[in-house]
Amino acid sequence: MKIKIGFAMGIIALMVAACSSHEQHGSGHPVADLTKLNHPGAKVYQSACMSCHALAAKEEGSVAPPLFGVKDHVIKAYPERAAFIQRVVTWVKAPNPNDVLMPGAVKKFGLMPAQAQLSDADLQAVAEFIYDTDFNKPDWYAAHYQAEHGKKPH
Ligand code: HEC
Repeated sequence: MKIKIGFAMGIIALMVAACSSHEQHGSGHPVADLTKLNHPGAKVYQSACMSCHALAAKEEGSVAPPLFGVKDHVIKAYPERAAFIQRVVTWVKAPNPNDVLMPGAVKKFGLMPAQAQLSDADLQAVAEFIYDTDFNKPDWYAAHYQAEHGKKPH
């Protein structure tokens, strides 16, 4: 519980920092952003996935495809929510070299290492977070990016 609250406070601080650096911002978007980022899976993503899967493509030094690219590939093969979640959970536990959805990425980066440290609840949460979050929503992404990089995405 303590950790959850600490995380929520951290996110609020991030959002405040992001918003205060805008000259203006649309009414109400921080509320929508917070709802998304308060998803328990957002924390798992940030601690276990983000170091490799950035939200958007980084030009240099990337070690894995960005998260929205991953989602795009998985959702095309598994459009149903339950099947998508199952695929991600199974994959993260034990990536199967004989069943890859991103062969180009495997060639470029190598097979993803299993994230065996995650509990089933964490895996479920992060899979739900990826499915349920619209990473193409510029509001959410722009604020997050700005908080992290100090400038707007380009
Ligand atoms: C050490 C770097 C690294 C970490 C950490 C990592 N990944 Fe990956 N992931 C990769 C790479 C590289 C690929 C592309 C190659 C491949 O598919 O194996 C990939 C591919 C994927 C795919 C597509 C696989 C498919 O064919 O279905 C999913 C989904 C995925 N990652 C989810 C996650 C999630 C969720 C986390 C956090 C729990 C995570 N990854 C953490 C490196 C990483």
